[in-house]
Amino acid sequence: MENSEITQFFCEGLPTKPLENIGKILVTGATGYIGGRLVPELIHRGYKVRVMVRADADSVRLRWPEAEVVVADARNLESLLSALEGIDVAYYLIHSLSLGHKKFESVDLEVAINFRTVAENKNVKRIIYLSGLGNKNSKLSPHLDNRIKVAEKLSQGEIPVTVLRAGMIIGSGSASYEILQNLVKNTPIFFIPYWAKTKSQPISVRDVLKYLIGMLESPESAGKSYDIGGTEIITYDEMLRVLSKIQKKKRIFLPALITNTTLYGYIASLLTPVPGPITKVLIAGCKNEVLCENDDARKLLDFEPLSYRAALLKAMKIEELDNVSTRWSDAYSFDHALVKKLPQLVPPPKFTSSYCLLTFKPASLLFNSFSNIGGKMGWFNSNWMWRLRGMVDRLFLGVGSSRGRRSQKNLRVDDVIDFWRVENIVIGKLLLLRAEMKLPGEAWLEFSIHNYEGLNKLLVNAYFQPRGISGHLYWYFFLPFHVFIFRDLIEHIEKRC
Ligand SMILES: NC(=O)c1ccc[n+]([C@@H]2O[C@H](COP(=O)([O-])OP(=O)(O)OC[C@H]3O[C@@H](n4cnc5c(N)ncnc54)[C@H](OP(=O)(O)O)[C@@H]3O)[C@@H](O)[C@H]2O)c1
Repeated sequence: MENSEITQFFCEGLPTKPLENIGKILVTGATGYIGGRLVPELIHRGYKVRVMVRADADSVRLRWPEAEVVVADARNLESLLSALEGIDVAYYLIHSLSLGHKKFESVDLEVAINFRTVAENKNVKRIIYLSGLGNKNSKLSPHLDNRIKVAEKLSQGEIPVTVLRAGMIIGSGSASYEILQNLVKNTPIFFIPYWAKTKSQPISVRDVLKYLIGMLESPESAGKSYDIGGTEIITYDEMLRVLSKIQKKKRIFLPALITNTTLYGYIASLLTPVPGPITKVLIAGCKNEVLCENDDARKLLDFEPLSYRAALLKAMKIEELDNVSTRWSDAYSFDHALVKKLPQLVPPPKFTSSYCLLTFKPASLLFNSFSNIGGKMGWFNSNWMWRLRGMVDRLFLGVGSSRGRRSQKNLRVDDVIDFWRVENIVIGKLLLLRAEMKLPGEAWLEFSIHNYEGLNKLLVNAYFQPRGISGHLYWYFFLPFHVFIFRDLIEHIEKRC
């Protein structure tokens, strides 16, 4: 199942050639939206790559067997020492946006200083950082301001830093694309605030990758800053209109009296799969023009970037082919990589409820059936209950059940499935999901297949480790619903295969 993903490469048409005699390249933020796409491109161009992740995971080695994997948290100087040992060039793609606006600003600055200090100590030759566009002489939103401050912190040392400044990134799985797409899908009438007329210069994710690699292969870019954007300057209002046309949706656009970006961020989080802490931060940035202030990048790397419309069409095509390689949800919720996994819980979770059935159907079909769960397929039955639970979660700024899936046909460890995250997969045998909704405890849902006297036993286990009295009350309150939901679910899994 995991191997059916087809990796696409976008850097083949670059005017630059892969560098010879270059040492190891470190990719930080490799589990994120951009990092996860950059790693295969670098490997494909023959580079020796080390990926930096915050938690040791076989899934990362499985995903990029050619890469070296190092475990380090940029908040911990000690761990950075081994991550940066013997590195020539480091891509800096660390971002803590999902911590929410109150926390990410200070954390991102702290982490950038740590990184620069250790990189200097380890004689790293270059750093390449993907930052944000925005005129630093204007009053920028905290997020845009922070992207620029991170660039400053990284550049304050001896190592030449190439800063690439990008605005909104449009690509399959990008937060901005999914916000736009779901707003158009779910909103018949748009109330357009004044700031939606602000100009922006979105760029396609494939062009971002080209610039990230093209700059590496252009040594003269070391120590310089480049603004990168698509070929079109467009307002947010126009973006929605263009997308409505492409999707053949008749939408009404009216001027808005209420213009508070926090409120719009909250509403966007209810109408799209992207949770509030991200939508709020991104929409707050809509008041700032994010335009390329020079065309140095285009002069250096002579290729034609995509327009907004072309980027949308490419993203839609990839979604249609169900071949989305990374998604904003890969790095959200924050710290998910660091949480305790089910086998690490000692003693095991306090509560378990199990449901099983015996069937003649082959294990491979049963496995495919439960691996298809969630996303566009829903939860086979009682969907309204899952949705209701997700909506309650969303109201409290949780991840909700509308995050969907990166791909309906293939699944890898750490993928999101609605409000769950895949913790373990054993092909043909087991799927273990960890809950990421707001809960008074930790919860897991495990589907497994066992041989039983010549038949297959399909088993669903719900595990719960309560936190305090509210956790206990929560478990007992939902127990009667479990009986109904899981019995039904298991029967549908069997019927569908
Ligand atoms: N995506 C966009 O639309 C966009 C637009 C313009 C600019 N950019 C810039 O591009 C860069 C990458 O963005 P992205 O969208 O790929 O981000 P992302 O998906 O949110 O990924 C962030 C990455 O940072 C890692 N990280 C966070 N804290 C860390 C720490 N303390 N130590 C080590 N790693 C840590 C995360 O690891 P875990 O998985 O362990 O959390 C994750 O891999 C950012 O600088 C962003 O400003 C992005």
